[in-house]
Amino acid sequence: MSEICKNWTEWLKKNRFAGQTPEMVEQTTRWLEAVRDVILVYAEIKPYDVVLDIGTGTGLLAFKALEMQDCKGKVIFSDKFQDCLDDCKKILDDAGITTGYEMIQCPCEHIALPESTVHKALMRSVLVHIVNKQPAISEVYRVLKPGGKFCAFEPIIRSNTRYWEILDPVYIEKYEDFKKVENELMENPLDSLCNFDESTLKTNLEIAGFSIPEVRVQAVQSKYVVQSNMVKEWFVNPPSPDQPSTRERFLKYFDEQTVDKYMQDVQNYLTGREIQLKSNAVFINATK
Ligand SMILES: C[S@@+](CC[C@H](N)C(=O)[O-])C[C@H]1O[C@@H](n2cnc3c(N)ncnc32)[C@H](O)[C@@H]1O
Repeated sequence: MSEICKNWTEWLKKNRFAGQTPEMVEQTTRWLEAVRDVILVYAEIKPYDVVLDIGTGTGLLAFKALEMQDCKGKVIFSDKFQDCLDDCKKILDDAGITTGYEMIQCPCEHIALPESTVHKALMRSVLVHIVNKQPAISEVYRVLKPGGKFCAFEPIIRSNTRYWEILDPVYIEKYEDFKKVENELMENPLDSLCNFDESTLKTNLEIAGFSIPEVRVQAVQSKYVVQSNMVKEWFVNPPSPDQPSTRERFLKYFDEQTVDKYMQDVQNYLTGREIQLKSNAVFINATK
């Protein structure tokens, strides 16, 4: 696990917002709710459906599904990590909710449920943390009932604006060297974050057995003025508790002094400038 983030609950509650202004935190929260709502509209949850939230984290999807079912069906909170389930359970206990849900701790590559037992499988930003996506997607197919739906969202990190695209080489020492390394990092087939896109996901779904899965690409744009503290956070905050930060990734190629000088150059150049970032994400809507 990372030294600055001990587990997924902490990452979801704190690290993912690092370096954001209160307005940006608010925007991110609204955006997460909007993504959640699209997944749930796709899922068409009915009162007595068995709903499985895979990689539930802090329960973004599961809590809303539970509310939609008015605790009359069964929502299964599942995650590989117990800290996430403990956190969700505490919220349910504090709210006095005792029915309509189950908790299972398991990796999504081996879901601890029998075949054909789930009506709706939901997922948000979980495959992006798994190097080999095929076993996980095939496992979702296995646990779904015939006619059951898999509804998910994943960011396509490979399509993100890269640092070098928003920098001016005149102000950045070793600009070309860092550009080369950044491109190499983003094309690493063993990096779960960027080893996939909409077309590889569609192939994974078809191999699993989903016929004509819908994989809808959404372009996401953001524009804001960079504040000095943001840049350090981009580099030192890990993308998950068990993955290296960008700074740590660069340290595999350059010495500490060179990386820190680059970070300082980037900070000096970007502070006070308005930047525009783009990224793609996908919504999956697939039926068994
Ligand atoms: C970015 S978080 C998303 C959490 C939640 N779905 C949400 O939308 O807020 C990724 C989640 O995937 C879980 N996770 C990571 N690897 C997993 C695996 N192999 N199997 C199941 N869950 C996993 C983590 O514990 C974490 O809760």
